[in-house]
Amino acid sequence: MSDNNNSHGHEKVEKNVGLMAVLIAVVVSFGGLAEIVPLMYQAEAVEPLPGVEPYPALQLAGRDVYVREGCYNCHSQMVRTLRFETERYGHYSLAGESVYDRPFQWGSKRTGPDLARVGGRYSDDWHRVHLVDPRAVVPESNMPSFPWLAETYVDGEDVTRRMRALKTLGDPYSEADIEQAAADVRGKTELDAVVAYLQNLGRNVPGGG
Ligand code: HEC
Repeated sequence: MSDNNNSHGHEKVEKNVGLMAVLIAVVVSFGGLAEIVPLMYQAEAVEPLPGVEPYPALQLAGRDVYVREGCYNCHSQMVRTLRFETERYGHYSLAGESVYDRPFQWGSKRTGPDLARVGGRYSDDWHRVHLVDPRAVVPESNMPSFPWLAETYVDGEDVTRRMRALKTLGDPYSEADIEQAAADVRGKTELDAVVAYLQNLGRNVPGGG
């Protein structure tokens, strides 16, 4: 008897497209919420790793150049948890590394190598030559040249405004950090800034940099 009732209920749902669509949406969104909501409260996903600080002015300027020049079109910044990745690049990426990355630069396109662990792998001078003319140090490279970075100065006011904006989003910059920003980048080129940014990538993970 109860069997009969059950199949009757099913029949109602299966024959009514509108009702079925609504129920499918409920089930799917429940699944989505169950996956996403706990992440918002998990300390390891939202708390910075020890040593991870908001970007100092020069590195922040460098990160902005990185985004503007579209470096992410060819470089990811996410080491997966697979053995051949960790052997090539180093420790796999952790969520707590990226809490001050707005937007994060994880990506998946790798025309060039992943850069999440590149900090400290080369000298500043190597990076300077490589960015201005990649083929001067890697003859087979098909990375584009970015010579204008060496000729463009970082705009101190712009960096100051960006730090203020990030502070309103919750990045713990002090007033002193923000007031010091313009002086920190004075006389620095965009090339100096990108190199400072690259040299810090991956410095805060176990065994990084
Ligand atoms: C069109 C694709 C492309 C773009 C855009 C690009 N790169 Fe590259 N990059 C490569 C390739 C390919 C290599 C490997 C050959 C070499 O070292 O030049 C590379 C290598 C590198 C390396 C050395 C990595 C290592 O572990 O050896 C760094 C650092 C780097 N790129 C930084 C940048 C930065 C910063 C930008 C943006 C200003 C950028 N790249 C834009 C393709 C690209």
